[in-house]
Amino acid sequence: MTKVLGICGSAAPKSSTKKLIEAALDAAKTAGAEVEFIDAAKMNIHGCKGCLACKADQAKLCTQKDDMTPLYAKINAADAIIIGSPIYFGENTGQIKCFIDRLYAFIGPEGSRMKPGIKTAAIITQGYDDEKAYVQCANTLVGGFSHLGATAVEPLIVGSLHTADDLKPETIAAAKTLGKKLAE
Ligand SMILES: Cc1cc2nc3c(=O)[nH]c(=O)nc-3n(C[C@H](O)[C@H](O)[C@H](O)COP(=O)(O)O)c2cc1C
Repeated sequence: MTKVLGICGSAAPKSSTKKLIEAALDAAKTAGAEVEFIDAAKMNIHGCKGCLACKADQAKLCTQKDDMTPLYAKINAADAIIIGSPIYFGENTGQIKCFIDRLYAFIGPEGSRMKPGIKTAAIITQGYDDEKAYVQCANTLVGGFSHLGATAVEPLIVGSLHTADDLKPETIAAAKTLGKKLAE
């Protein structure tokens, strides 16, 4: 069975990012996938310490022990990963950046330790109505996974949002289309 992970970079109580990721996962589940939502922004995930211990031994991942530790196995069991973040001051959130930096541990001395052949997609939410303004943030969200060999599909970027209450039905439908695509 296809496994789809949804990773959320917003800690907001009425998060639009979370709602879109959940809609995508719902559609993936309906399409027959096994799904899991990871509330990464609410987890204890420290930044990379740059110790390079992950570069010494192909069999070892990150030496830091925090909420990222079990996520390495979940990521490696997934066939597709949806990763979403709101824009904060022109960037992805700090919490999701910590998560992305910790993916560096998947690069071992003999190359990628991540399962080959996975698909990944970004979901960006923002207040600004220009949905082309922060395209580079969508690239950054999937960049770690792409570097490790994943194939990125077209992102979903949604402007004019402040909370999940601002989401239009057609935007939820677009998230569902993305989830279905990743479950294929
Ligand atoms: C600290 C902070 C900084 C923000 N900075 C920006 C910004 O630079 N550009 C923008 O378009 N929206 C900005 N926003 C608005 C959010 O990106 C937007 O409301 C987003 O949809 C929130 O997603 P969420 O509901 O999942 O938390 C900011 C919001 C916060 C709380």
